[in-house]
Amino acid sequence: MESAENELITRVGPGTPAGETLRKYWLPVGLSSEIDATAPKLVRWLGEELLLFRDQFGRVGLTEPNCPHRGTSLDYGWIEAGGIRCCYHGWVFDVTGRCLEQPGEPADSNFKDKIRLKAYPVRELGGMIWAYMGQGAAPELPNYHFLLRDDGERVFSSYIRECNYIQQVENALDPVHATILHGRAVHGFPAAPEWMETPDFNVTMTDTMAYYVARRQGPELGTEWHREVAYVPPIMVVHHGGSLPGDPLAEMVDVAWRMPIDDHNTRTFTLKFFPNANGKRGNPEKEARPKPPPLMRGTRRQWDMASINGQDNAAQVGQGSLVDRSREHLGHSDRGVILVRKLWKDVIEASLRGEAPANLIRSAAQNRLVHVDVIERLVKAEELRDHVPSIVYVS
Ligand code: FES
Ligand SMILES: [Fe+2]
Repeated sequence: MESAENELITRVGPGTPAGETLRKYWLPVGLSSEIDATAPKLVRWLGEELLLFRDQFGRVGLTEPNCPHRGTSLDYGWIEAGGIRCCYHGWVFDVTGRCLEQPGEPADSNFKDKIRLKAYPVRELGGMIWAYMGQGAAPELPNYHFLLRDDGERVFSSYIRECNYIQQVENALDPVHATILHGRAVHGFPAAPEWMETPDFNVTMTDTMAYYVARRQGPELGTEWHREVAYVPPIMVVHHGGSLPGDPLAEMVDVAWRMPIDDHNTRTFTLKFFPNANGKRGNPEKEARPKPPPLMRGTRRQWDMASINGQDNAAQVGQGSLVDRSREHLGHSDRGVILVRKLWKDVIEASLRGEAPANLIRSAAQNRLVHVDVIERLVKAEELRDHVPSIVYVS
């Protein structure tokens, strides 16, 4: 990959091609559980310093962090009077950025009507906080069934990794790493024996996603593990698309978003949704498994090579916080990684030409319920051979 292409797909700041493309979508900027009306929180997304706060009415704001008066950080502000009150001279701003009060100004002054705090539109859905950091009218916030439904349980987790988001998105379509990085026995146990699949897989790119399909021998004769994993632009990775209410098999959902903090840091949000009809929550076999003691390795930076998270940190942060892709040597096993880059580059280039980027929803009629049809399941041999992963807009 040429250096210019590497820059194109990795840089996320304002004015960059990928950054401006990302800003055309609703993006996850927090979990509902992590922000309450007791205190605001400084955050950084797409290289922008921002303030996230919840007002006394429960509404969430994502704004510039410094007061337009004389620049104090609103991080020290008070949640009251319908918004956030700057600690310095008490100006109050609501979640939309309107200035509601200026205690030091004459009572009849209209000065406050001329002041605005830059604020992005924010929505909460299913326990996640979403923001539209772009210009003009926001598209529809996708009504993913796993965010809307109340016939099951949503379980979130989140972590920050000190590397560019594309290094983590690429990982989704790199099944060989699962076998080698996570399948190796450390202290006598592999971190993830269930991922020791044959590295034989097919990769496909469509207008809306890039995915691989791997099939390996199941536990009994005549059975197979059918595994599809998809990258859905801009930043979603789907391991289990799950099932819709009323489907014959109720299946869990397992998705992740690789949200860029800046060019060198990424916060991942993961969501598992367990439908009640499935009857299972989690994987008892996995929980019962012995946990090997940590094995810390590394000269400058230590990671636990006995845990999946430590292994992924070692491999991905070990590439450097923003890997120079002009120096790689890609092989047959990297064909999924190549498609991830190609798809995201195509999306960025379409966006630069002024075309609508992939997976942007503009019509409410199309947005009744959105399902990502990606399946991982133990099947009978030949079953699901013809299944084609896709995004389904349920009407
Ligand atoms: S700096 Fe915020 S009110 Fe003066
Ligand atoms: Fe991994």
